[in-house]
Amino acid sequence: MSTSAEALPCQAGPMVPASFSLIAKRRETADTWTLELQGPAGEPLAFAPGQFTMLSAFGAGEVPISISGDPTCAGPLVHTVRSVGLATKAICEADPGELLGVRGPFGRPWPVGELTGADVLVVAGGIGLAPLRPAILALLASRERYGRLVLLYGGRSPEQLLYAADLHDWTERGLEVQVTVDSAGPEWLGPVGVVPRLVQRASLDPAGTVALLCGPEVMMRFTVSALAQVGVRGERVYVSMERNMQCGIGHCGHCQLGPTLICRDGPVYRWSELERWLAIREL
Ligand SMILES: Cc1cc2nc3c(=O)[nH]c(=O)nc-3n(C[C@H](O)[C@H](O)[C@H](O)COP(=O)(O)OP(=O)(O)OC[C@H]3O[C@@H](n4cnc5c(N)ncnc54)[C@H](O)[C@@H]3O)c2cc1C
Ligand code: FES
Repeated sequence: MSTSAEALPCQAGPMVPASFSLIAKRRETADTWTLELQGPAGEPLAFAPGQFTMLSAFGAGEVPISISGDPTCAGPLVHTVRSVGLATKAICEADPGELLGVRGPFGRPWPVGELTGADVLVVAGGIGLAPLRPAILALLASRERYGRLVLLYGGRSPEQLLYAADLHDWTERGLEVQVTVDSAGPEWLGPVGVVPRLVQRASLDPAGTVALLCGPEVMMRFTVSALAQVGVRGERVYVSMERNMQCGIGHCGHCQLGPTLICRDGPVYRWSELERWLAIREL
């Protein structure tokens, strides 16, 4: 796993951003863009699925953003960013040719290398599909190593769904894809309702399934409960956690959750590692 500045030789240290050039951007939804970035010498940034960078728009701020590109082929650094505030708005409004700051990659990745032989259930809510996209691409690149590969994906509405072309392509490559939305007009022919409701219908083998979850915390909590009801235990469930981050490297304490620092020990955790700390109300 690569979690230090060693991964990016152009960096002077883990707190010093490298300047990456925005080479392409694609609108995913009304407020979400996928950006392709190239490093100073054009070299690819090696990363593991689930890792993030600290991405900055100069003068606006720096925020943690998961890498959403393909870890199996060298190429530009890819991020999918939802504009929710000052920094993410400036990042989404950057034009091709502009420079953005990048530190990282940081964090503990999804345990993709440990899943050989398992059925893998991926459950994503909203922008939570972005951190899971590299894991899905890595799983599909070695499709024969796994049992069933299932994606349950929930969005607020059909217009809010990410990666429409990918969802089609992944289905062709052997991923069972189920998409649900919170609300939709009559043109939507799929399920309507929250994503944990799809768990019951997925006919999982509890002893052989490992689940990877990313989305709003409430969605992950309900999905964990739904998984427990069909017999998938917390030891077999991994979640990616979000908290406010400043340094990204375990120095400042902003991202503390119980005894762990999410930037350093996460963002990916086994649910059973975290359960007791999430039960404590944060101030
Ligand atoms: C490990 C990690 C990976 C992440 N990966 C991604 C990613 O791939 N793509 C992505 O778009 N975001 C991702 N995020 C979330 C992203 O870091 C935040 O949206 C960002 O920090 C907001 O900063 P801002 O300055 O734009 O907004 P702020 O000015 O800090 O906040 C503006 C408003 O947005 C609200 N807000 C802040 N964060 C969020 C949030 N996460 N969701 C909804 N509302 C929020 C605030 O409560 C506030 O009301 C990730 C976060 C972490 C910790
Ligand atoms: S962001 Fe500083 S310790 Fe995690």
